[in-house]
Amino acid sequence: MNNRSTRADDGLFEVETSEDVEPVEPESELGPTGRPLPDLPEPTPPEPGPKHAIIISMTNQKGGVGKTTSTINLGAALAETGRRVLLVDFDPQGSLSVGLGVNPHNLDQSIYNLLLSREYSFDEIVLSTATEGMDLLPANIDLSAAEVQLVSEVAREQSLKRVLDRIRDRYDFILIDCAPSLGLLTVNALTASDKVIIPLECEFFALRGVALLTDTISKVIDRLNPDLEMIGILATMYDSRTLHSREVLQRVLEAFGDSVFHTVIRRTVKFPETTVAGEPITSYAPTSPGAEAYRMLAREVLVRCHAG
Ligand SMILES: Nc1ncnc2c1ncn2[C@@H]1O[C@H](COP(=O)(O)OP(=O)(O)OP(=O)(O)O)[C@@H](O)[C@H]1O
Ligand SMILES: [Mg+2]
Repeated sequence: MNNRSTRADDGLFEVETSEDVEPVEPESELGPTGRPLPDLPEPTPPEPGPKHAIIISMTNQKGGVGKTTSTINLGAALAETGRRVLLVDFDPQGSLSVGLGVNPHNLDQSIYNLLLSREYSFDEIVLSTATEGMDLLPANIDLSAAEVQLVSEVAREQSLKRVLDRIRDRYDFILIDCAPSLGLLTVNALTASDKVIIPLECEFFALRGVALLTDTISKVIDRLNPDLEMIGILATMYDSRTLHSREVLQRVLEAFGDSVFHTVIRRTVKFPETTVAGEPITSYAPTSPGAEAYRMLAREVLVRCHAG
């Protein structure tokens, strides 16, 4: 823990991460990304009255980078601030559903039915979760058929958007957990979204494929959804003890600058444990650094979405 850099432009710092330290004056303390930690405001409760959900896709075609973990825990942290949150499992693996204690194999109906048939209503499919204010649209392997079946649909890229637009007034945030692919399902997610967050694992090949991803996002902006905005890169599975992890974080910062969230998610076994427990870290280990990190991320997201 004593690899310390003293110059701000080194990009790497003493590895006390934001989740371990008290909030401090911005000038006096550098966060794990090497920038002064912002003074993030305490989230205020959402405005009363009609809602219009901000829809965010968690996207990276690389597998195992923390998309699902971040969807669950960012969602739970937003729900803690009094927001109504819908999590959308948009991966045929159904990991988001599993992570919230739902066995995808036992589902008779899932988001697949909403996507491909008008016979089902949202209320028949949506599940409430143990986290107050947070609902789940579950998925299972059926969704893999949708990728094929949607190809012959009219406006096939807008299928998820049509589903979500109808219930947008019920939620403050809708988070979509994408599959590790850039196929039609992910294009549907990006088309339905206002914002996109890219989780990146702090390991050697992290940046490989990101150009392809940003290219896909640009194409969706040009052709399908001009309002889509990339609001941040989230560094995950950061291990401050390894030079390797710190170097990768530095490269991510060089590549993306201020797009990178100040919040950095550390590697900890608590996250796999939460999957087994089927609940977010904010309830499984509410005072853990991991829970605090996702709470800080929620604050950053609220600020970046002007929804704080
Ligand atoms: N910060 C972390 N520290 C340690 N393990 C983590 C962390 N975040 C996620 N994991 C674990 O890493 C694995 C992959 O995480 P996750 O499922 O969130 O990634 P993903 O990007 O959704 O994967 P896929 O591409 O397969 O959908 C899981 O077992 C998860 O519990
Ligand atoms: Mg996943």
